[in-house]
Amino acid sequence: MVSYTDELKEEIRSANDIVDVVSQYVTLKRSGRNFFGLCPFHKEKSPSFSVSPDRQYFHCFGCNKGGDVFTFVSEIERISFKETIELLAERAGIKLPIAENSEFNKNQYLKDRMYKINSVSAMFYHERLYKPIAKIAQNYVKTRKLDNNTLKAFKIGYSGEFNELYKHLIAAGFKDNEILATGLVNKTDKGDFIDRFRKRLMFPIMDASGRVIAFGGRKLENNEKLAKYINSNENLVYSKKKHLFALNLAKQSNSKKIILVEGYMDAISLYQRGITNVVASLGTALTEEQGRLLRKYSEQVILSYDSDSAGQEAILRALNILDKQGCDARVLQMEGAKDPDEFVIKYGSGRFNLLVDNAISLVEFKIKMLKQNYNLENANDKIKFLKELSRVLSGVENKIEREIYVDKISVLYNISKEAIYAEINKNLYKSGSDKLLNNAIPKKSKENLVSDAVIRREKMILYLLINHFEDAFEPIVTNIMPDDFKSEINKKIFQIILESTAESSDKVLQLISNIEDEEIQSNVSEILVTDYGIESVKKCIEDVIKIYNKDKITNRKLEIIKKMEDQSITDTERKALEEELNNIMINWLKKE
Ligand code: UTP
Ligand code: MN
Repeated sequence: MVSYTDELKEEIRSANDIVDVVSQYVTLKRSGRNFFGLCPFHKEKSPSFSVSPDRQYFHCFGCNKGGDVFTFVSEIERISFKETIELLAERAGIKLPIAENSEFNKNQYLKDRMYKINSVSAMFYHERLYKPIAKIAQNYVKTRKLDNNTLKAFKIGYSGEFNELYKHLIAAGFKDNEILATGLVNKTDKGDFIDRFRKRLMFPIMDASGRVIAFGGRKLENNEKLAKYINSNENLVYSKKKHLFALNLAKQSNSKKIILVEGYMDAISLYQRGITNVVASLGTALTEEQGRLLRKYSEQVILSYDSDSAGQEAILRALNILDKQGCDARVLQMEGAKDPDEFVIKYGSGRFNLLVDNAISLVEFKIKMLKQNYNLENANDKIKFLKELSRVLSGVENKIEREIYVDKISVLYNISKEAIYAEINKNLYKSGSDKLLNNAIPKKSKENLVSDAVIRREKMILYLLINHFEDAFEPIVTNIMPDDFKSEINKKIFQIILESTAESSDKVLQLISNIEDEEIQSNVSEILVTDYGIESVKKCIEDVIKIYNKDKITNRKLEIIKKMEDQSITDTERKALEEELNNIMINWLKKE
C-alpha cells in the first residue's frame, strides 16, 4: 500500500485548479467572486452549486455537499481517496513515487501505448480506404452518399484482411501485449494473431478531446450471418457507457443544443449536411455518465432515436436520466423515414431542423404516451385522459411553463383549457393541504432555535480565521471563547483551529480540508464559498469582537442586577457590584 506525503498532496492540489476540474463535469457561470452551476450531486433546476476559485472549495447550498478538489473528484467519480490522488496527479502530469512496481504507473504506461496503437490503426484503416484494394468499401461509401470531407472528418477507413493490422503494428514497434490490450488483434488457441476487424468499414470512436479510443466496424457484404456492426470491447481506455460517438466534433459546433441519435451513420449523415451538433450513443441505452457529458457540452438535448426500433420506454428512460441531471431534454418526432439518416437524405437539413425546433418536452411526451391508452371519441375515456394529463401537469412547478403546456395540449387534444385548469387546481389543492398538515408539527432541532444571523456571524468568524489567519487569530481568540459559539459544529471547527499549531492561512486550510468528517466538510465549504461582503478585514475583526464583548457586558449587567436583588449578600459585596455596574455604564456611554 502506497501512501503519499502531505507535500505531494499539496503539490497535486495546487496543480489542479478546482474551477477547471469541476468544469469538466458541470457547466459553470461566473457571478461575482464565485462560479455557479447545477449541482451534480442532487437534482435541481436552478443553480445552488458554488465554486470558489480563491479558496479552491466547492459547496452546494441545496444538498450541503462540499469540500476541496479531492472531495469533489472522489465523490463524482465514486473512487477512493488514493485513486483520486492518482487521477489528479495524472491530470496535472505529476509523477508519483515508486514508479516501477506501482500498478498505477504500469497501467499508465500501457494506456499511453494503447492510445498510440489506436491512433496508428485509425490512420492505417483510413489510408487503406483510398487504395485500389478497397473498391468494395469505396463503392459502399458512394451508395451511402458520403463525401470526401466527411470521410476525412470522421477518419472513416477500411480494415485489412487476415492479420494486416497486426503486422503493421509490430513493424511500428508495438509489443504483443500492448496490441492485445486494445482488442484490435486477437490471439487464437494455436497462438496465431488475427485482426478483430476484417474487411469492414471502420468508424474510429474518439473521446471528447479527439483521442481514438475504440472502433466500430460495419459489414460491407450482404451476408446475413455477419453481425452488421462489431465494436471494440471495453478495455483500459474505452468504456462505451462513458463516451459518445462524434462528441469531439459536436462540441466544436458552438450550438447550445446537442442532437442525440442512435447510429454512427445517423450522426455522420447529419454532420455532412451541416447539422454538426450531433452525437450517437454507442449501442447502449443512455447512461448517467453520458448524460453528464451531454449536459457539460450543451444546454438542451434533442433525442432523435429511430422511429421504429426505439421503444418508448427507452426514450422515457433517457429523458428521465437527462431531466434528473437538470438537462432540458426534448424528443424529436419524425415521420416518413425510419431514422435521421434516411430523413435528412430524403427531405434535407431544413426539414430536419424544423423537427428539432418542434421537439417536445418530457411532460408533453408523457402525455402523448398516456393518450395511446384512450379513444378520445369516447366521453368516458376523454375524462379519464383529462384526469391523467392534469396529474402530469400538476407536477410542473413553474407556473408559466405550465400555462404554455396547457395552451398546447388544449389545442392538440381538443380539451378546454378551463377543464384542464380545474383538474390541475384540484390536484394542487390536495397536495397543498398535505403540506399544511405536515407543517402543523414543526420539527425544530436545537440548531434551528438559534437565529440565522448568529450562525452566520459565527461562520464569518471562522471565515476570518481560515482566510486571514495572520490578522485574525490573536484578536479573536483573546476575545471570543469556544463557549460563545451557539452552533455545535461551528464550535468544533473553532476548537480545531484554536488547538492547531498552524501559523498561516494556508496551513489552516490544509489542516481543515484534511479532516475526514462530512458534516465538518460541508460546513467549512459553505463558510469558504460564502461572500460576507468584507471590505476591510481589520475593521470586520474589530466589529465582530465588539459584538461579542457587548453581549458579554449585557450578560454581566443582567447578572449583577440579579445578584443585587438577592437580600442575603453583604454590604461590601453590594458595593462592589454597584461599582462594577457603574463602570460598565460609563464605559458604554464613552464608546457609543
Ligand atoms: P443501426 O442499425 O441503427 O445503425 O444501429 P446505423 O449506424 O444507423 O447503421 P446503418 O444505417 O444501418 O448502416 C444503431 C447503433 O447500434 C450499434 C451501433 O453503434 C449502431 O450505430 N449496433 C447496431 C451494434 O453495435 N451492432 C449491431 O449489430 C447493430
Ligand atoms: Mn441507419
